[in-house]
Amino acid sequence: MRYDSITEAIGNTPLVLIDPAVHGLRHIDLYAKLEMLNPFGSLKDRAAWNMVRDGLPGARERGETIVELSSGNTAKALALIAGMHGLSFKSVTNRMRIPEVKDLLLLLGAEIEELPGQTECLDPTNPDDPLTLFHQQLSRPGGAHLHTDQYFNARNTQAHASGTGPEIIADLDGRAPDWFIACVGTAGSSSGAARALRARDPGVCVVGLVGQKSDFIPGIRNADEVQEVGLFDPATYDAIEPVSADEAIDGMLTLVRRCGMLAGPTGGAAYHGAVRHLRPLDEALQDRRTAVFIVCDRVEPYLGYLRQRRPELFGRPPARNSVATLTGDEVRGASVIDARDAQKWIEAQGPLVIDLRGPFAYAALHIDGSVNIVDEIFDELLRGGLPFSKSRPVLLACPVGEKSARYAALLTRMGHPDVRSLAGGIIAWRDAGAPLVRE
Ligand SMILES: Cc1ncc(COP(=O)(O)O)c(C=O)c1O
Repeated sequence: MRYDSITEAIGNTPLVLIDPAVHGLRHIDLYAKLEMLNPFGSLKDRAAWNMVRDGLPGARERGETIVELSSGNTAKALALIAGMHGLSFKSVTNRMRIPEVKDLLLLLGAEIEELPGQTECLDPTNPDDPLTLFHQQLSRPGGAHLHTDQYFNARNTQAHASGTGPEIIADLDGRAPDWFIACVGTAGSSSGAARALRARDPGVCVVGLVGQKSDFIPGIRNADEVQEVGLFDPATYDAIEPVSADEAIDGMLTLVRRCGMLAGPTGGAAYHGAVRHLRPLDEALQDRRTAVFIVCDRVEPYLGYLRQRRPELFGRPPARNSVATLTGDEVRGASVIDARDAQKWIEAQGPLVIDLRGPFAYAALHIDGSVNIVDEIFDELLRGGLPFSKSRPVLLACPVGEKSARYAALLTRMGHPDVRSLAGGIIAWRDAGAPLVRE
């Protein structure tokens, strides 16, 4: 295989059968589409190249910088393509939560601008989201940048409608699979591939997978972020199903330990979601069927993420004091307090107020006297035991009150007698007209 450019190696990824002894489905051939074998490491290579290709000569002439809102794979692919063409690349994102990816982007020569956005995916319905404001700024004409705009650019979807989908059909001898299962980030890959598969056979069942509410699986939406925006169209999916980070890791371990596939967490989420969706249907089948799921990228950049969630995999003691171990009843039983009562409580008893948001959001506006400990650091801190005295009450605050409720449940389990979560988070506090200060 000889190429004039590395970009010619994008696409034509293998479709590999999963050994039925691993998943146990008796009537369904389950295939993995190994998008992690694209040259820059993920399914985003297709979208990045398709979005930027035609704009490169003009961008070089005008000395433009390629800009994208991405905290991961799209940024990686664009940084490499920019470097190949003598252009600079800037990644605008919310807080980058995977340090290895951030380091890799810097190594590739990317500039990174981190904003205090709350979500993994752009949320244009939230006018206060800094990522949305930046997006609006970029979308105005006349700037010195080539904005690839992955959340809205039809060429993202098209890359998969003309590549990923038709490749699957060709590898299945001209037939579409009965089920197509994929994780949803921008929705470009799932909706593009689904379009091609349904053009071949309108009966293809498309299952979109998202992270469970308040859970973080790097690269995809969680159930809080399933809005009808950008390329995401709920009509694409016959079902949208949540996968927890734990389930994604379990699925990933199956792929890496039993299938020889160095898949990352979203590949694991897709495998887990596929088998979970198919198992009850498999039992009722008489004839043979086919299903395909996508393995988006590789495991290596996620070792830190995995170490934090599953220390025992790395020969370390299991995390006892972790929100990942909470039961639904424990979370529902967490003590919450609304903004008005919290104000009175702060005045009367002076609880320790801990703000779990990122440092930008905290610096912009926070409750006077509060301490900022970003949730991931708080998580680390709690692993060693209670980091403060039981004699002082604690009020936990986060953007919308979900994370803080989980940590309140965990602190209660750890023996703290009076810890409460701010209901509705800092947003509800602000909406109630309660005072906030700026550093
Ligand atoms: C690791 C990973 N998996 C899955 C996806 C989902 O892809 P899409 O944006 O096409 O929905 C992404 C997107 O960034 C990703 O980074």
